[in-house]
Amino acid sequence: MTMAADTPARRLQPEWERLHLLAFCLARSREGQSLAGEHLERLRALQQTVERLRGADGPWAGVLPAPLSAVEMDALVCILAPEIEPRIGWAYQTLQTGSGQPWASRALIQELLALEPEQSGYLQDALGSGSRLRRLRLIRDDDPDPYQPLRPAPWLAARIRGQEEIPMAPEGAVEVPVEAGWDDLVLPADRRVMLEEFLLWVRHRETVVDEWGGASLGGPVALFAGPSGTGKTLAASVLAGVLGWPLYRVDLGRLVSKYIGETEKNLNALFDGLHGRRAVLQFDEADALFARRGEVKEARDRYANMEVSHLLSRIERHQGPCILTTNLRKQIDGAFTRRFQMVVEFPRPDAAARARLWDRLLPPRAPRHPEVDVEALGRGVVLTGGGIRNAALHAAYLAARDGEPICLRHIATGVWRELAKDTGEAAMAELGELGAHLPEEIAHAAH
Ligand SMILES: Nc1ncnc2c1ncn2[C@@H]1O[C@H](COP(=O)(O)OP(=O)(O)OP(=O)(O)O)[C@@H](O)[C@H]1O
Ligand SMILES: [Mg+2]
Repeated sequence: MTMAADTPARRLQPEWERLHLLAFCLARSREGQSLAGEHLERLRALQQTVERLRGADGPWAGVLPAPLSAVEMDALVCILAPEIEPRIGWAYQTLQTGSGQPWASRALIQELLALEPEQSGYLQDALGSGSRLRRLRLIRDDDPDPYQPLRPAPWLAARIRGQEEIPMAPEGAVEVPVEAGWDDLVLPADRRVMLEEFLLWVRHRETVVDEWGGASLGGPVALFAGPSGTGKTLAASVLAGVLGWPLYRVDLGRLVSKYIGETEKNLNALFDGLHGRRAVLQFDEADALFARRGEVKEARDRYANMEVSHLLSRIERHQGPCILTTNLRKQIDGAFTRRFQMVVEFPRPDAAARARLWDRLLPPRAPRHPEVDVEALGRGVVLTGGGIRNAALHAAYLAARDGEPICLRHIATGVWRELAKDTGEAAMAELGELGAHLPEEIAHAAH
């Protein structure tokens, strides 16, 4: 086994030892036996060691996203211990006859810690729904029933064992699959350079901040601005892929709750959950927030403005790459853009870019009829990358139906369907030369 010598689990050994001893003492006292002096002495010594481990520069500080109270720490150790030290799981099973669970319930924790009835309220607060242990995602957020087993969050147990973290989307965010690479992104060369420079802020932080004494800003934060379908989300996933980190997309609409004051709580939970994790965060539709600034009409807007500035400063404080995306660059004033390390505009693709997009977005192994000329398609039809993706895929499905290579008839239909999405009907002129290939029944209905 290649257990690294210096995992947090090793450095926290006295914690597990103390707990094992507590379990032993509990078993003895349940049998009506008194405790030997040596056990009490050992317990006292371990207690002191454990307090040092929990100090500001002890090993716990490097693992936990925020300091915890004494009760919270005790409860957390009880919950973690069986996943770190299997013999403690055995002890729990013996102590919880009936349930046979290797994980501690609140009832068992109360007994292990020998809490007096008047102290048990603290424990309930530490473990109940909405408690810090839950909000910080240190324990799994399941049923707070006192007899149900409590389990640590997988990321925490993994981190203490010194293993690779199991990626899990923090609350309020969804994980976006990261599959794209630089080659998939069709962008003007200068934008590509900007994206690469954004990564420098992530990769060379140690040199610039720690070694050279550069100011330690949070973030880095980038604003990606551009019309829908120009590749903003794709670029975020390329950046995450290049870093080898997961990408989490945050739905701002869901985060900015309609209940005033909830947003701050939701935000804190999100960022606490991300603390110290290697991840790229993307906030979509950031314009919804920026646009409201300055237009204070009603009380609700005023609260919304407060939430916007809180959101921004919270994002800025977060240590890790954040990408905000917007469709409306115009509405964002300089006071905002200056807060970002980088503002990247995503243009609508020109004819040459559209040709490359067609080439990339027609399925790579699909047979293509020789009449399909991506240069001509790029020149002929004005669509964004998102539009081309949809049209190209639609064409591929039509070809699959016909059992034929993808030909201009399929592409003309795909493009037509895409153009007609907004208005319900497209103008023949928008199709250009492709119009001649539009199947009769569609062309006929269009007139
Ligand atoms: N610049 C581009 N390079 C390569 N593919 C692109 C590009 N723009 C769009 N696409 C294709 O279109 C799809 C949709 O684009 P994406 O979701 O990145 O757009 P977006 O800018 O995030 O749009 P929205 O503002 O609506 O969120 C991509 O997954 C990709 O297949
Ligand atoms: Mg997007």
